[in-house]
Amino acid sequence: MLKAKIISTGSYLPQRRLTNSALERMVDTSDEWITERTGIKERRIISDEQVTSDIAYEASIVALERAGVAAESLELIVLATISGDMPIPATACFLQKKLGAKNAAAFDINAACSGFIYGLSLVSAYVQSGMYKRILLVGTEALSRFTDWEDRNTCVLFGDGAGAVVVEASDYGQCDSGILSVDIHSDGSMSDILNLPGGGSKFPASNDTINNRLHFIKMKGNETFKVAVRTLERLVVDALEKNNLKVSDIALLIPHQANSRIITATANRVGLPMERVMVNLDRCGNTSAASIPIALDEAVTAGRIKQGDYVLLEAFGGGLTWASALLKW
Ligand code: ACO
Repeated sequence: MLKAKIISTGSYLPQRRLTNSALERMVDTSDEWITERTGIKERRIISDEQVTSDIAYEASIVALERAGVAAESLELIVLATISGDMPIPATACFLQKKLGAKNAAAFDINAACSGFIYGLSLVSAYVQSGMYKRILLVGTEALSRFTDWEDRNTCVLFGDGAGAVVVEASDYGQCDSGILSVDIHSDGSMSDILNLPGGGSKFPASNDTINNRLHFIKMKGNETFKVAVRTLERLVVDALEKNNLKVSDIALLIPHQANSRIITATANRVGLPMERVMVNLDRCGNTSAASIPIALDEAVTAGRIKQGDYVLLEAFGGGLTWASALLKW
């Protein structure tokens, strides 16, 4: 039986840093409020010349180089984003061109902050079915281009960045590591909690949509927060039960980096000490679909994940969507 395995990781953060003190000069906020309520100290912002596929490219070449894999040998590129280069074509196609991955099929998926784990479910199923053996999965966001820099409720939260993994088929009999399980969930009845209303068929671009600031991300933060804490605890418990594991078996939890209070609450509720939880949102902010692959790459390069470790990924985002994946490294 074939199993999907992440054989390498890569990530990229734009050079430009936006600190909380810089935000104090833009909207009515304070470093103290942002730090206390979110845990974020700074976030990265792409340069005026860069677009979403450029930063996806930077993360992807690192992952490909580390895997020792040529772009031409990729069979599929799956790219998770909510802030693509443009509505048509898929940002994955721009990335394919930049990489010279001319033999790959390429498409985007949108599951907001859960996008990367949704992508893992797809690539895992493709590999298990025998359809593809070598896939590039990317989470990439230029959220700064869709952020309302006059709205203090949202502009302090988001950042830009990209993360990528190369996934290959491995034979279950020879190797017990890889993607052990992936669980994905949605609840469209709560789609109004977090959205970007303008530019689609409901509110096509017009003077009105621009004047009403509909082309920016809107979020009812407090409502999202409550659902997130409840849901993420259940996700972690379910993933452990499904794989017959205890909390103490998990070497590292890599949560979506939205809010340090959500991350700590989830860890506390399931009884996982914070030393075994990956946190980088103080430096990155919420990078939506890019947050987990960036954190995964940082954990791998910092030596926080060793061969044979169980690593649990979990995310929650617009849709609403939520998802978890259990990996054996
Ligand atoms: N600076 C100062 N005050 C602020 C700011 C700010 N930047 N933003 C909001 N406030 C004020 C509000 O106006 C409000 O004031 P009021 O009481 O006078 O009305 C007060 O602070 C409290 O606002 P809340 O929204 O209740 O603050 P909360 O403690 O919930 O924190 C936050 C807000 C950080 C957004 C939090 O709710 C959160 O992190 N939510 C979850 C986000 C999330 O997980 N999203 C999913 C992933 S994102 C994706 O999918 C793209």
